[in-house]
Amino acid sequence: MKIGVLKEIKNNENRVALTPKSVKLLKKAGNSVFVQKNAGLGSGFTDKEYRKAGAKIVKNAKKICKKCRLIVKIKEPMPKEYSYFNKENILFTYFHFASSKKLTLAMKKSKTTCIAYETVEKNGKLPLLKPMSEVAGKMSAIMGAYYLAKPYGGRGTLMSPVKNSVNAKTVILGGGIVGTAALENSLGLGANVVLFEVNSKRIKQLKKKFPKAKYKKSSKKAIEKELKNTDLLIGAVLVPGAKAPKLVSKKMVKLMPKNSVIVDVAVDQGGSVETIKPTTHAKPVYEKFGVKHYAVANMPGAYPRTSTIALTNATVPYILKLAKNDLNAVKKDKGLASGVNMHKSFITNESVAKAFGLKYTDLKKVL
Ligand SMILES: NC(=O)c1ccc[n+]([C@@H]2O[C@H](COP(=O)([O-])OP(=O)(O)OC[C@H]3O[C@@H](n4cnc5c(N)ncnc54)[C@H](O)[C@@H]3O)[C@@H](O)[C@H]2O)c1
Repeated sequence: MKIGVLKEIKNNENRVALTPKSVKLLKKAGNSVFVQKNAGLGSGFTDKEYRKAGAKIVKNAKKICKKCRLIVKIKEPMPKEYSYFNKENILFTYFHFASSKKLTLAMKKSKTTCIAYETVEKNGKLPLLKPMSEVAGKMSAIMGAYYLAKPYGGRGTLMSPVKNSVNAKTVILGGGIVGTAALENSLGLGANVVLFEVNSKRIKQLKKKFPKAKYKKSSKKAIEKELKNTDLLIGAVLVPGAKAPKLVSKKMVKLMPKNSVIVDVAVDQGGSVETIKPTTHAKPVYEKFGVKHYAVANMPGAYPRTSTIALTNATVPYILKLAKNDLNAVKKDKGLASGVNMHKSFITNESVAKAFGLKYTDLKKVL
């Protein structure tokens, strides 16, 4: 199969959909790979490395889409890119259709087969979202530790313990992928950690793996009791398909020490703290009630090289399947079929159709 990789044009997006190593794997399996000029630079991969791996470098994105059956990307197509795709393309990328009617209608019009990373399933989980949650979770402890420094507006507590001084305290809300990664890094830095979860089974698993932390059943009342001497609060909750529950009210934020830090990773689902509003990498923090708030909605964008490598290691097995069997791969793999949001103008994801009052069609009927 002919596979194309486009250079991302979304503001501040530096990830790329294939690494030179993944190009090599696809070439070995008998495919041709076309990479847009400078597509990997933001993640530290040069055209020379892609060429060496067997890719052809092409300047023009539109030409790549005309030539290739399968196009792999990172972000949803930008308006400038809408006209690049046609009914011969399978486009494999993050789409998040429900957040944009404009994008949904544009892709519908193009008749492209759209497979969304975020809805591909495996054993009831979302394997192509997981790597980015891990990056964001690990980052949350690092960002928190950084903004706790006095010159950056913080309380002046070092996350790593120092003999004869006080230990920093981190409170984590949620013990899923983000929460566990935050826990691992917070413990690694040496902080005292309290993690709140609603799922007792999850608490048991975490207790076994990370016995140094304290675990508590999540409730507003129980969280409130911990805030008085918290240096860093990390929001990592998710209720699938719903807005994040607001677990920390304004009143509770006011209880936190002056210049303590909140990193609300769940900000992309509305956030778990009442005073949170989304920020960007250009201006990541703001202050409210004397507490620093970090709320970047695309945290993995700060570390494109790590994120690209983690994401492509997760996507490449699916890309290999699509390259080998075309859309028969979707018929064979129910989890990959969950990723198909659109095919030949039919909307095959119920939530996307519902979001805009459009017609939903069962993929089995149109494939
Ligand atoms: N800001 C970013 O850049 C970024 C990057 C990746 C993920 N995220 C977001 O981070 C959030 C967490 O993602 P995840 O992959 O860890 O999800 P996950 O499903 O793996 O984990 C969520 C956890 O929250 C727990 N939970 C639900 N309600 C709770 C409550 N009331 N109190 C305590 N725990 C509760 C669940 O039991 C679950 O264990 C999501 O909103 C995700 O979109 C943001």
